[in-house]
Amino acid sequence: MAKKLCIKTYGCQMNVYDSGRMADLLAPLGYDTTEDAGEADLVILNTCHIREKAAEKVYSDVGRLRNLRAERMAEGGAPMTIAVAGCTAQAEGAEIMRRAPAVDLVVGPQAYHRLPELIARAHRSKGEALDTDFPVDSKFDHLPQQNRVEGSAAFLTVQEGCDKFCTFCVVPYTRGAETSRAVDAVLAEARHLAALGAQEITLLGQNVNAYHGAAPGGGNEAWSLGRLVHALAEIPGIARIRYTTSHPRDMDDELIEAHGRLPQLMPFLHLPVQSGSDRILEAMNRRHTADDYRRVIERLRKARPDIALSSDFIVGFPGESEREFQATLDLAREIGFAQAYSFKYSARPGTPASMMPDSLSEEVKADRLARLQAVIADSQKAFNDACVGKRMAVLFDRPGRRAGQMVGRSPYMQAVHAEVPAHMAGRILDVIIDSAHPNSLGGTLADPAEAAA
Ligand code: 5AD
Ligand code: SF4
Repeated sequence: MAKKLCIKTYGCQMNVYDSGRMADLLAPLGYDTTEDAGEADLVILNTCHIREKAAEKVYSDVGRLRNLRAERMAEGGAPMTIAVAGCTAQAEGAEIMRRAPAVDLVVGPQAYHRLPELIARAHRSKGEALDTDFPVDSKFDHLPQQNRVEGSAAFLTVQEGCDKFCTFCVVPYTRGAETSRAVDAVLAEARHLAALGAQEITLLGQNVNAYHGAAPGGGNEAWSLGRLVHALAEIPGIARIRYTTSHPRDMDDELIEAHGRLPQLMPFLHLPVQSGSDRILEAMNRRHTADDYRRVIERLRKARPDIALSSDFIVGFPGESEREFQATLDLAREIGFAQAYSFKYSARPGTPASMMPDSLSEEVKADRLARLQAVIADSQKAFNDACVGKRMAVLFDRPGRRAGQMVGRSPYMQAVHAEVPAHMAGRILDVIIDSAHPNSLGGTLADPAEAAA
């Protein structure tokens, strides 16, 4: 009999990709996916550890699932296996087993290919089903191919882990050392995705532009991300390429040049800067200054004048003074981000920053966050406003709220609403933008005959 699998995904796009791969892996074992945990035989919480709030979510979710399972079984229903995967599983696996006895199995991000065996072990004897190894054999050699593409856009992990050790960050501990997949494997997966209908591919890695995958056909040579993107652009059917997340230090000439040369490479880049203060950047071990960042942006804009930027910021890093925070506001205003994420600093266990003195109060952090977010909201609105009147290629991938409407993505990742017949889902169509909102755009099809065809 078919079994039901429910995966709840938190955190970054890498987790979204991993959740898809886990579903693909379990499908041959008879698991159909469901959104409803209440009817699931197996629930996987794919967790994030990046900030305290994200990590704490595991325990409240497990509590809810435990009650759901108890109610269901009291009514004579089927049991439910509760699994915790992802970065919190990696960082706190043993503690989760201890603190949340309702959890049947724990699996770290590098051990997903061992899930079928772990599930069997959990059913035999609970307490033995914990796997947070960093195995020498790559999970990618064992996971099956992706077998579905939703809405013509797909993720493709090319690099994982991080060796940069920013002092605030858990990623080097949860995702391990930096590794890149071989070029051949990436190209094969991209061709497969194109055959499944993907027109947009987002290359994923915690440090994606540090990519250095083994060149095709083996040998000792490694390809950079810039070179990889050139090869991907030659695959028929792939109209759009993106990559995330990048580090300013790894924006090399080849990659910047690719932005100038390849129309498939979208003119939008998420390039976290974290702070505008050199002293804070140094305390964060970012190994670049605010001016280094400005120079990278300058080079990018020279190569691709219409490029738009996104970033991540942390406010309230230990010891951050008001003046240092002002430097962050200045940088944000000066660059004019099309969008950006900002976070209150959150001390993470085991990281060097968590041992630093001079932690700031919640009030100061909240105040700085609100001020930075106001600056970002202004520049985002200004960017959206400047789009009005422009013609943009939009990949329509989901129904809109109103009948006859669809929502798509502009090259800059903005949500664009337009009157588009439902059968055009998955198509890239030119739209004239006629309205701008804080978080989206509205437009009309440039060539309605195209949509009627
Ligand atoms: N506290 C707050 N924000 C953090 N980030 C990473 N670690 C922390 C932390 N300890 C933010 C960074 C990173 C994004 C993914 O999350 O801005 O780029
Ligand atoms: Fe969260 Fe980082 Fe793990 Fe992604 S890699 S899920 S952001 S901790």
